[in-house]
Amino acid sequence: MQTPRWTAAADPTRRRLLIGGSGLAGLALLGGCTTQREPSPTPVRAGDKRVREVEARRRRKGAPVREHSLRVDPTDVDLGGPVARTWTYNSKLPGPAIRVTEGDILKVSVSNQLPEKTTIHWHGVALRNDMDGAPGITQKPIEPGATFGYEFAVPYPGTYFFHPHVGLQLDRGLYAPLIVEARDEPGRYDHDVAIVLDDWVDGAGRTPEDVLAELDRTPPLTPEGRPAKGHSEFLGGGAGEVDYPHYLINGRLAAAPETVTAKPGDRMRLRLINAGSDTTFRVALAGHRMTVTHTDGYPVEPIDADVLVVAMGERYDVIVTLESGVFPLVAAAEGKAGLARALVRTGPGRVPGDGLRPPELRSRPLMATDLTAAEDVRLDAKKPDRTHNLFLGGETDSYRWKINAKTYPDTDPLPVAEGERVRLKLVNQTMMIHPIHVHGHTFAVRTPDGRPGPRKDTVIVKANEALEIDLVADNPGQWLAHCHNLYHMERGMMVVLSYMR
Ligand code: C2O
Ligand code: CU
Repeated sequence: MQTPRWTAAADPTRRRLLIGGSGLAGLALLGGCTTQREPSPTPVRAGDKRVREVEARRRRKGAPVREHSLRVDPTDVDLGGPVARTWTYNSKLPGPAIRVTEGDILKVSVSNQLPEKTTIHWHGVALRNDMDGAPGITQKPIEPGATFGYEFAVPYPGTYFFHPHVGLQLDRGLYAPLIVEARDEPGRYDHDVAIVLDDWVDGAGRTPEDVLAELDRTPPLTPEGRPAKGHSEFLGGGAGEVDYPHYLINGRLAAAPETVTAKPGDRMRLRLINAGSDTTFRVALAGHRMTVTHTDGYPVEPIDADVLVVAMGERYDVIVTLESGVFPLVAAAEGKAGLARALVRTGPGRVPGDGLRPPELRSRPLMATDLTAAEDVRLDAKKPDRTHNLFLGGETDSYRWKINAKTYPDTDPLPVAEGERVRLKLVNQTMMIHPIHVHGHTFAVRTPDGRPGPRKDTVIVKANEALEIDLVADNPGQWLAHCHNLYHMERGMMVVLSYMR
């Protein structure tokens, strides 16, 4: 039997036939009386007609097209004293923030001036598969000297960011916020500030490649199954294993922080983005409680917190009502020695010493599993059509990370079909945390008490714990799912969520 050229979803009769067909095949198998076989399922590739159809559905008539251009190039950046030779977008650190409104078409021309290939991944955005920036899966990487045009509809509001998806480039200066405003933003705040957290090594004596070479010489787990470094009491294991010389907020060291000015009583929305490669941050604003309103772009039932834990790839939006004075916003590297900070100034006052750890940091931190999805973004409780287990593992004798006992690119793809409700059971069999990120989808975190968990695209799986996430398979294509610890990802903790027809 030949594989038909039309797609299942484009032709409803074909879908019916398939369902009927597999039923028959089942019977035939039971009877064992036929040699006829079903056509083997084929992956829905990034260039598939179905990907274009789903994109066409996202585009509303007359949607404005927002054009930007990014030059990816080697640059010197001033971290607030030390100057580092690194790679940036448009010679800025962080790169230029892109702000659009939900429903807009974003068009970005990327010119690669690096000595190596690159791509851009639009982290968290449910976009068309062929614009996802996964090299070798959704596109050919952009060659040195070449230009590539990304163009896609931006369906949902929220706080996102973008970064390369090639090698260790994210651990240089290649990241920037992507802010998608809601069309009917109630505007219940006076200031809207992106806070990008990062761990910094490049141009400070070592490169990310040097860091990986060091990790390669150290197996991730000691023979007793303990991580060699970076233990976090709160997370029950290692939160990151690289000691970075610097930690940054918006490209600045704690000693030369970015200062945001406002008036006492103003309401400020802070969009916290962890663009770090191997650092989980504990974030607090001295003298304030934060009201958490969103995570990974999606609204939650507002909840107050003194301190938040933000892993690599996660975002949290909080609102604070400002007191009078000068207040450090501190991001302390979890399980490590350093910290990053910015300052919020609403009046006269002394700038506290750059090592100051506000008492809020010692409160019990809030994390994703404590949150409840806002009503309009809840995923209705429904039995999954398909469940995949992802056993997250490591090795004791070499620096390699695994999903279901295999290292990417040898990991077995996880098949799904469009329209299914899919459950991923993330089972962490290591003594480190793994922030697991799924491309192109926003899943619902399952809570033990049955509370509707937050919608997210990146979630911490604590050491030796399991977590279930549910998603609707509504964005056909080939999507990476991986640990957002860049070094874990580079050493294999990655898999493909593969739409099949
Ligand atoms: Cu932010 Cu596949 O990554
Ligand atoms: Cu990991």
